[in-house]
Amino acid sequence: MYKLNQDETPLFNALMEYVNRNTIPFHVPGHKKGQGADEEFKKFMGENPFKIDVTVFKLVDSLHHPTGPIKKAQELASDAYGAKASFFSIHGTSGAIEAMILSVVSDNDKILIPRNVHKSVTGGIILSGAVPVYMQPELDKKIGIAHGVTPETVENTLKENPDAKAVLIINPTYYGTATDIKKIAEIVHRYNIPLIVDEAHGPHLGFNDRLPMSSIDAGADMCAQSTHKIIGALTQCSLLHVCSDRIDMNKVQQTLNILQTTSPSYILMASLDCARRQIALHGKELLDYTIDLCNYARDEINKIPGFYCFGAEVLNNKGVISYDPTKVTITCRDLGITGYDLDMMLADEYHIQMELSDLYNVLIVGTFGDKKEDIEYLLSVLKKISAKYYGTGDKKSDFIDIPPIPEQILIPRKAFYGNKYSVPIEDSVGMISGEFLMAYPPGIPVLCPGEKITIEIVKYIQKLKSIGLYVQGTEDPRVENIKVVQNN
Ligand SMILES: Cc1ncc(COP(=O)(O)O)c(C=O)c1O
Repeated sequence: MYKLNQDETPLFNALMEYVNRNTIPFHVPGHKKGQGADEEFKKFMGENPFKIDVTVFKLVDSLHHPTGPIKKAQELASDAYGAKASFFSIHGTSGAIEAMILSVVSDNDKILIPRNVHKSVTGGIILSGAVPVYMQPELDKKIGIAHGVTPETVENTLKENPDAKAVLIINPTYYGTATDIKKIAEIVHRYNIPLIVDEAHGPHLGFNDRLPMSSIDAGADMCAQSTHKIIGALTQCSLLHVCSDRIDMNKVQQTLNILQTTSPSYILMASLDCARRQIALHGKELLDYTIDLCNYARDEINKIPGFYCFGAEVLNNKGVISYDPTKVTITCRDLGITGYDLDMMLADEYHIQMELSDLYNVLIVGTFGDKKEDIEYLLSVLKKISAKYYGTGDKKSDFIDIPPIPEQILIPRKAFYGNKYSVPIEDSVGMISGEFLMAYPPGIPVLCPGEKITIEIVKYIQKLKSIGLYVQGTEDPRVENIKVVQNN
């Protein structure tokens, strides 16, 4: 199984050694083991976090040039995940995604990306000066969300763009649906270019057979995973895994060094070291518990009138080959209230905070930190809400098909740095968008910076507004004006 002893936590141990030596700290941070910290804050936090909040020195190693415990901790992560090399990111998956993009494309290189990427992908594209070639994901009218892009979409887009330098895929989606990433990897590799994966929602996949296949197992070349979202690391901690010789490992390290602070938090890195041990040694049973609990929640919610949680039937959709049962999407369309309304009710009246909400849904991110009694409380609350609203309102209407992807006149980098001015949406036809414009549902941009605004898009926005669906993204919250780029 593992080649290394996964019970070890080299970075956490080095920090413990520092603490146990009772070292005198003539170094930053200035709170000096908490001795100079604000008393109220220290009282709340306890003393221990301050004791391991240190800076770069030999005993605890350097994230930018690791030779000691951080190097070992990263090697243990590669061993646990089956990667060639793994890098700690303390700038979340956002930082890791930017690093992945910057290490595979530069000025004017084409990269294929799904249309509905996280903003860090756009960030990486702006920073690199690359040319995005967008692929439309599959849309699900019932739940009002986007699933993955299909292998066919990747294949066709590559045929039209054989000069592309890389392909980026999101797998699984925020809502937990997974595309056929193995097939996509085979297609991409026929062009001898790397497949890089935004696996923000998949740091647990490789540790339980009841979950979708991880991108590493599927043959991707590089992926970034939010260990802070799904497994036990602290917020901001992610892993960037390199899995093949198509990726220049030194370039990845150099890129991370440019993007990441020279003062990385050792509290965060130690939490990542320990979270890796936990998932490597106990992942299977912890995830069995999580999956069983989430399946229980799903089954019980499906018994409450007006609520629906998708399960195995989601596999009938294009762009879905498997799904992660630990993500529980609660659809409330039939209750006649929006997901936003439900989210607010749960938070304000019952002190239950969901991960996200959209027009039709709220989302539970289930993990092994969840407790059965909390699920029981949620079920009791949903029953009350159902009793109050079921049968009283109108079912929310289906979203309307989004217009075709418009022509890209400027690359995002040029649009980002270009001179912009604001015009009323109805006067913007033929101009170049300087902003994103997103349609909710299904959470897909109808315009990205640098794209030509068409009459279909303007009409579509007007129609969405008139039927009470949402458009967002412009600086103007009412989406009456849009910023356009001066093109000369
Ligand atoms: C699909 C996806 N990719 C990337 C990210 C960025 O991850 P992080 O918050 O770790 O920077 C997120 C965050 O929500 C995400 O949902």
